[in-house]
Amino acid sequence: VTTPIDLPAAPSRRLAVRVTPDALRQLRGGHPWVFESSIRSAPHDGVAGQLAVVFDDQRRFTAIGLWDPTSPIRLRVLHTGAPRTIDDAFWRDRVVAALGRRSSLLADPATTGVRLVHGENDALPGLVIDAYGSTAVAKVYTPAWFPHLHAVLGALADAAAGVGRPVDRVVLRCSRNVRPFAPAGVAQGSVLVGTTPDGPVEFLENGLTFEADVLTGQKTGYFLDQRDNRAAVRRLARDASVLDVFACTGGFSVHAADGGATEVTSVDLSRRSLATAQANWRHNTGRPDVATSRHHLLDGDAFDVMADLGRRRRRFDLVVVDPPSFAHRGRDAARAVEAYGRLAELGLALVAPGGRYVQSSCSSRVDADELRSAVLAAAPRSGREVRVRDVTGHAVDHPIGFAHGAYLKTVFLDVR
Ligand SMILES: C[S@@+](CC[C@H](N)C(=O)[O-])C[C@H]1O[C@@H](n2cnc3c(N)ncnc32)[C@H](O)[C@@H]1O
Repeated sequence: VTTPIDLPAAPSRRLAVRVTPDALRQLRGGHPWVFESSIRSAPHDGVAGQLAVVFDDQRRFTAIGLWDPTSPIRLRVLHTGAPRTIDDAFWRDRVVAALGRRSSLLADPATTGVRLVHGENDALPGLVIDAYGSTAVAKVYTPAWFPHLHAVLGALADAAAGVGRPVDRVVLRCSRNVRPFAPAGVAQGSVLVGTTPDGPVEFLENGLTFEADVLTGQKTGYFLDQRDNRAAVRRLARDASVLDVFACTGGFSVHAADGGATEVTSVDLSRRSLATAQANWRHNTGRPDVATSRHHLLDGDAFDVMADLGRRRRRFDLVVVDPPSFAHRGRDAARAVEAYGRLAELGLALVAPGGRYVQSSCSSRVDADELRSAVLAAAPRSGREVRVRDVTGHAVDHPIGFAHGAYLKTVFLDVR
């Protein structure tokens, strides 16, 4: 069923905005946000998605962006420097540049699950677009995108077809803060282009088949950002017993099985995600190593499950720990680092001598050194000696375009 959705038109009048000297400096340095507290003057009647131009004290153009009266991030910057019109050519340039950053991945037929647009990092702040085969999922983090979606998605459809990755369906997802401001008729998982999927959508990652629940699954249906780390885990998994903690839909689990793991235990709080992990495993049983590997599911709180496995003296050759973000704001960072240390203490205790330990953080407020230190400091508490094999960052489709863009970091350890 094709669902026609009426999105609001972009207001033609632009807002003129003045901001604090500090905000001006940050804008000129490439920062993509202006907070409400940095606005010195603006008309009162701005609506979400209205284009707003920031002028300096000499009334010179400094930046243009999307106004959002519903958020403390009042302005999301589209462009700084010389004045520029935001029109179809502008959106085309933005999405062509975004696809260009991913050209190596888009040329790889073994992977059809790709993040095409990564928000601020692709100079389209507050907008994420993930492709699962020919289905795109646009997730908006500000209602300011609603009036511009058709223009951006039109540009994306043209550009994606041009690189041999045509899009024939677009699903809209809204972050929680956006839902109260969604236009009438727009619901979670509204289909903007094409037909409503009658089930999960299949795609390829590193040659393996996965499914994404694009209408109601976590984020856009799958965590694409761990693709390279999953490939690394696959290379470490030969003949290993594997524990995949915070497994979600089983990306690491299935890669480990395909790498020759004898058995894999997937742990998550969400039974629904684990059911998808099981489905993802089944999608790949045509592959010889997956066919002979055994899959166990454990639903429960990861801290409790790991503590319990430790008490029962269970050991695994490879343990992967990929928790959700524990720090959304700067002031939560210290507590997040503590939680990472606690997870590492529990996880390292479960690694068999000579085994491997992998832990990620997706908190932008915790940097790679802090994660590495927290994990290394946990080793003596678990009575283990460790050596850092590798610390990895972002896949090519998750570019880092500003300070908080560097959210994902992963440490790989050898454990004795
Ligand atoms: C970043 S995602 C993990 C992604 C996954 N490793 C993958 O490769 O797709 C975090 C996961 O942690 C789960 N989760 C959150 N809190 C949890 C907890 N206390 N115990 C177990 N799982 C939890 C969520 O359901 C979610 O699936």
